Amino acid sequence: MKRELSMEFARVTEAAAVACGRLVGRGDKNGADGLAVDAMRQIFDTVNISGTVVIGEGEMDEAPMLYIGEHVGAGGSEVDIAVDPVEGTNLVAKGMPGAIAVLAVAPKGCLLHAPDMYMDKIAVGPRAKGCIDIDAPIKENLQRVAKALNRRVSDLNVVLLDRERHYPLIEEISSAGARISLITDGDVNPVVEVGIEGTGVHMYVGRGGAPEGVIGAVAIKCLGGDMQARLYVENEAQALRCNKMGISDLKKVLTLDDLVKGDDCLFSATAITNCNMLHGLRYFGGGVRTHTILARYSTGTVRLIDTIHRFDRKNFNVKL
Ligand code: FBP
Repeated sequence: MKRELSMEFARVTEAAAVACGRLVGRGDKNGADGLAVDAMRQIFDTVNISGTVVIGEGEMDEAPMLYIGEHVGAGGSEVDIAVDPVEGTNLVAKGMPGAIAVLAVAPKGCLLHAPDMYMDKIAVGPRAKGCIDIDAPIKENLQRVAKALNRRVSDLNVVLLDRERHYPLIEEISSAGARISLITDGDVNPVVEVGIEGTGVHMYVGRGGAPEGVIGAVAIKCLGGDMQARLYVENEAQALRCNKMGISDLKKVLTLDDLVKGDDCLFSATAITNCNMLHGLRYFGGGVRTHTILARYSTGTVRLIDTIHRFDRKNFNVKL
């Protein structure tokens, strides 16, 4: 992928975030998602790529835009694209922290085509790379990560989705002595945060969406961290869907390189609401300021882009 395209992808997530920003806290998660999808789709067609959406808004018959298999871009190198125009639709609807507009890009064939189902995940930052084992007891993982970070287990902060299915895991983490932060939605953002020192997040663990797992994997790969995952197959239909999408071993532990192959991936996320590291959208008379993280694996460059957009000079198609 050409280096100069990187900034173009930041423009795509910026547009998605800005498009839905006026609906923050207004109870309309589908409305917010629709605005972000439209904006993302529109900007993609100005980018010089031949992209195929491999993780998107759903199947062709479920989603009008950014559906799986849809081609986007103005023409150029062939890439696979994973998008989540609003990651954390409930967070946006309720005006809660942690909502981002996000995308991941890799050369054709490099992203796992994950169906819409659950996935078990564990992710850590660069200093704990090589220390995690999704099959080991969580206490052991915590001890290894604490050692790698040169701190005590009680100094670790572990993020999980606040779900009943996680209660036993939460209990184990708590008895191991680590601190816990429960989130109500949006498990890509904490995976990004474990990859950046100073965010105060040291591990993300638990069961969440498989598509979000692949997007998170690209992020953590670009940031130099580590992740393991396993698909959580609940029924025959899901198993068949996996097979159709090219996944045959459903029980396999998926390493970072299984989730995203090669050394040319890129990730961009723009905050809609506040995150630990990124400022949410900040409006001023006549415009809005966005905060984006843009990272490329091949160079290891991580950009935090603080941008001022003026509505009188740029048509954002925003709901004003
Ligand atoms: P949205 O699709 O509404 O944005 O929700 C996303 C999400 O919170 C993911 O971040 C997470 O992986 C998944 O949903 C969790 O699913 P569930 O709510 O079924 O536990």
